[in-house]
Formats: sequence, structure tokens, C-alpha cells
Amino acid sequence: MEVTNVTEYQAIAKEKLPKMVYDYYASGAEDQWTLEENRNAFSRILFRPRILIDVSKIDMTTTILGFKLSMPIMIAPTAMQKMAHPDGEYATARAASAAGTIMTLSSWATSSVEEVASTGPGIRFFQLYVYKDRNVVAQLVRRAERAGFKAIALTVDTPRLGRREADIKNRFTLPPFLTLKNFEGLDLGKMDEANDSGLASYVAGQIDRTLSWKDVKWLQTITTMPILVKGVITAEDTRLAIQAGAAGIIVSNHGARQLDYVPATISALEEVVKAAQGRVPVFLDGGVRRGTDVFKALALGASGIFIGRPVVFSLAAEGEAGVRNVLKMLRDEFELTMALSGCTSLREITRDHIVTEWDAPKARPAPRL
Ligand code: FNR
Repeated sequence: MEVTNVTEYQAIAKEKLPKMVYDYYASGAEDQWTLEENRNAFSRILFRPRILIDVSKIDMTTTILGFKLSMPIMIAPTAMQKMAHPDGEYATARAASAAGTIMTLSSWATSSVEEVASTGPGIRFFQLYVYKDRNVVAQLVRRAERAGFKAIALTVDTPRLGRREADIKNRFTLPPFLTLKNFEGLDLGKMDEANDSGLASYVAGQIDRTLSWKDVKWLQTITTMPILVKGVITAEDTRLAIQAGAAGIIVSNHGARQLDYVPATISALEEVVKAAQGRVPVFLDGGVRRGTDVFKALALGASGIFIGRPVVFSLAAEGEAGVRNVLKMLRDEFELTMALSGCTSLREITRDHIVTEWDAPKARPAPRL
């Protein structure tokens, strides 16, 4: 069957993957309310398209942290991609590079920073989990920098792992033929089986729960890479992140895998954008499955978006070709959305091109009786 949109890859992945792996990729935390809301909130934002504008040429290019991209659609870090396909992170890196966009490599990748760098040129960010052992962190950051990674996405919403009940039921653990490649030489590459989720136990054992704003400053003393703070959803934390020296903010709820009943990221975005006051770029991830979603995020002030699950699902279905296809479909849909809204460049996408449920009702003339 021909795949015509990003969402269709999920059903194919479900058929192909072992249950433990599919559930790990698909799940959210607890009641999965936020998981649904990440999608539903997009559907409550409507367009106010402009007409009769020459849209024969559409420019989707943008510059992110000084890097020129073909489009504002990037790849979020998702862990353990070799569970989806033997090529794993290699395939994702090649697909991103071919599409002229950024791949973010997870700390918990099943390919190392050096291996991903060896796939060829490309703009890549490195997602960082801060381990209790700061020597491990310092070493890893240095390796990422040496391997040519351009920025750190510091994940700040995971002092403990969210309660993902499917992983608990399945006793989720990394299959024995794989390792968390970045930690292999540090004796931290394996995940023991546990009485609940093996990943939750690994996090409890290794990840530093004391992480705080001062560590964002510390990180800047060990690297020259710019730091994006990933997992901010309030104005208060936006201001603190900027004070702490963040080069950008990623509005994220970790794909609804951490704290359930936080708002959809698209609902939190505008609060963060307003608090950032243009001082740093603001990005969004969570539930982006359509070109229309990309447009809505940009209209609310995002400089770009990242996709998570569509990458692992398409990887499971078709390897590198699948990830390329996901990026192409989103790109084509986004271009069409721009054309049908009367926008020929990203700069022309404004807040007036959409209407949200929190907008004040427009004054209407009183009906004539
Ligand atoms: C993630 N995410 C994530 N985030 C992170 O900072 N480090 C990581 O290792 C992972 N791993 C991971 C695995 C899987 C299977 C998923 C689904 C998610 C969160 C990810 O970066 C991103 O925030 C969300 O995936 C975005 O939401 P969507 O696009 O999946 O709806």
C-alpha cells in the first residue's frame, strides 16, 4: 500500500516490530492524556488564509543557529534506533543530511557520535542526558564536539523517567545484541533487566536528579557548543533558561512520555515565545505530523520544529527511504500550506494567519433586527 502521509507509518511499524519495541516507541506516560492532546490541540487551531497573492515561488529555507537549512523541519533525538532497523541512526543521519536539515542524536543512541559523524557531512546536534558521573558527561561532550556536532540539546525534563506502563508490563530492556554505543567504553552501555522498566531503573541508577540551573552554566565551561534547553513549557523557565545562557529553547513535553497532564506543546508555545522576547530562538516538538502543524507552530512564533516518532516508525517500515519519505511528505505539505495561506517565505507567516481558542473573540457588528 502506498504511504501518503506521515501517520500511516505507525500502523506499518506496529505490524513489523516486536511488541516490546513498538510499545516503547509509541507510548506516553500514565493515562497518555498529554499524548493525545499533543495531536488534538493542533486540530483546534484554524487558518485565516490570505488569497490572491502570487505563490508561484515558495521559499522554505531558514537559518538556525547560523546554519542554513532547506526547511524548518528537523529531527528530534529518539533513543535506540537500531531496534527499529539495523541501520538505525546511520539511516536517520543520511536521510536528514539528504534533506538539508538537522538530526539530533540521542545520548542513548545505538550508534556512537563518531559512527554517526562517519556517515558523511551534515549538521548535527547532540542531545545530552547528564549522568551522575560528571567525568562521563565531560568526556561525551568533548567527543561530540570533536566529531563535529554543532550544538547540545540539554534535556531538562527527565530527572526520573516518566511512568510508561507498557514498558513496565513488557519489562522493557535493550535487546542483548545492542548497546548504548556512546557509553560502551564507559561500562554504562548495557541496561539490566529489572522488575519493571529496565530503562527506568537505568535512569534511576545513572541520571543526576540534582541537575539544576547552575549546571547549565557548568556545561558552558566545558564546551563552546551552543546549548538548547529541551523541555521548557513555562514563561518562568524560559526567563531562567535565557539567564543561564541558553542559546535557544525547545518547547517539549518529551513526546508526552514524562509528566502526564501537561499541556500540548502547541498550547504552551506562545507563552514561551512571549517570555523569550526574541532574545533566543524558540523551537517546538510534540505531535507534529502534518505540514499544517508546522505552519501553525511557526505562526505562533516557533523558529522551527522537530519530529520524534515519525522517524522511528518510518525507519522501522522502510529504513533510510522511510525517513527520507517522512521528511519529503512534511516538506511538501508545508509548502502547500504556505501556498494556500498566501505566504511565500517563512517571514510572511504571521500570527494573523491562524486563530486559536485562546484568542479574544473578534468584535462582531450587532445583528440588525
Ligand atoms: C524520545 N524523546 C527523547 N528525548 C530526549 O531528549 N532524549 C531521548 O533519548 C529521547 N528518546 C525518545 C525515544 C522515543 C521512542 C520517543 C518517542 C521520544 C523525546 C523526543 O526527543 C521528542 O521530544 C518527542 O518525540 C517529540 O514528540 P513526537 O514527535 O514523538 O510526537
